[in-house]
Order: sequence, then C-alpha cells, then structure tokens
Amino acid sequence: MDTDFLSDSFTLPDGLVLTIRPIRQDDAGRLQEFHSRLSQETIYYRFLENHPVLLDKEAKYFTTLDYETRVALVATLVTMNKEDIVGVARFDVFTPNQEDTAEAAFVIEDRFQGMGLGTALMLRLARRALAVGVYYFVFTVHWTNEAMLKLLRKSGEVIERHQSGGVYDVRVQLSAFVDS
Ligand SMILES: CC(C)(COP(=O)(O)OP(=O)(O)OC[C@H]1O[C@@H](n2cnc3c(N)ncnc32)[C@H](O)[C@@H]1OP(=O)(O)O)[C@@H](O)C(=O)NCCC(=O)NCCS
Repeated sequence: MDTDFLSDSFTLPDGLVLTIRPIRQDDAGRLQEFHSRLSQETIYYRFLENHPVLLDKEAKYFTTLDYETRVALVATLVTMNKEDIVGVARFDVFTPNQEDTAEAAFVIEDRFQGMGLGTALMLRLARRALAVGVYYFVFTVHWTNEAMLKLLRKSGEVIERHQSGGVYDVRVQLSAFVDS
C-alpha cells in the first residue's frame, strides 16, 4: 500500500524538525535501538511491565502492518545521515466484532517528552483511524501516568474510564479530538 500520504513533519519548540511517517518493515532495527534508549519508567508506562529488550519477533510484529486495521506512525530525527526513531504511536483494531474501536499506545523517547510530540502524533493517528472507520481508541494507562491522562483529557473526548489493578482503560471518541 502507498502510505506516503501519511507522512508529515513536526517542529519542536526549539526549532528541531522531526519527520512523522508510517512505520516500515525496515524499521525493525531502528525500533529496537529506540527501545534500548528508553528509561525504565517510560518502558513501564508503555508496556505496564519490565521489558528491557524488544525481541526480534516483537520488532517484526510491530513493523509489519496493513495500515488499515493496524497502523503505526513514527517520529524520526536524522543526524549525520542516520535516522533514529524518537516516538511511536499505534493502533490495532479490535476484531471481529468491534471494527470501530482500536487499542492504541504511544511512546516518546524521554528527551523529547513534554514537547507536544505525543499530542501531534495523536492528532495524525486519529485522522488515519477516522479515515478507515475507527471512531474510538482504548488506552490502558497506569493511574500515575499524568502526561498520558492529561493528553487524553485535555480535549474532553474521554467517554469512559474504568479502573482496575492500578490501570485505567480509557475510551476516547476520536471525532471530538480531531474536530476540536
Ligand atoms: C505519555 C506520552 C506519550 C505523552 O507524550 P508527550 O509528547 O510527552 O506529551 P505532550 O508533550 O504532547 O503533552 C501532553 C500533555 O501532557 C502534559 N504533560 C507532559 N508531560 C507531563 C508530565 N510529566 N506530567 C504532567 N503533565 C505532563 C503536557 O503539558 C500536555 O498538556 P498541555 O497541552 O495542556 O500542556 C509520553 O510522555 C510518553 O511516551 N510517556 C511514556 C510512555 C507512556 O506513558 N505511554 C502511554 C501508554 S498508553
């Protein structure tokens, strides 16, 4: 599938320009390197477990997508001709009975957190979701993860929130987010 239309850029507050593009199969190694640079806390908030190494089979799974029921966008930075992943946002549609709802997850490299990148990825991922008939994202968020809870709350689109065992399952309505 031609996915060039999903490519874009994002300028950080300090003027650094990141590329935002769909993840590709040849990103598996870059994704593993990205994972190895994440702090323990960031990994825990993303996977809700200790997960120090992203295995080859996991990297392959996370980079082999159809861009309709499974979509992932990466933010990358090119320095000295080397492209590094610095953020990932993804969704996987719940099938077979909930095609309008997807499980979504985000992770931004620690040094780029709090600069608007998560919000920028959310907007772009939500636009892609709506284009393929996905109207809701469900996030599993640790109850102490203020940044993610704020990201989901700030546009007022949260429609359900259940807590169990220290995590929230947060259901967000995408049209409210994209239109706001
Ligand atoms: C959660 C995460 C994806 C958010 O991305 P981000 O780029 O850091 O977020 P943004 O800069 O777009 O900020 C989103 C909102 O959270 C706020 N925020 C950011 N970091 C914060 C922090 N540490 N504490 C409290 N609020 C914070 C921002 O101020 C912003 O709100 P505002 O627009 O009203 O100012 C990112 O921090 C991350 O990868 N964390 C670790 C992994 C994780 O938690 N993944 C989510 C699993 S579902």
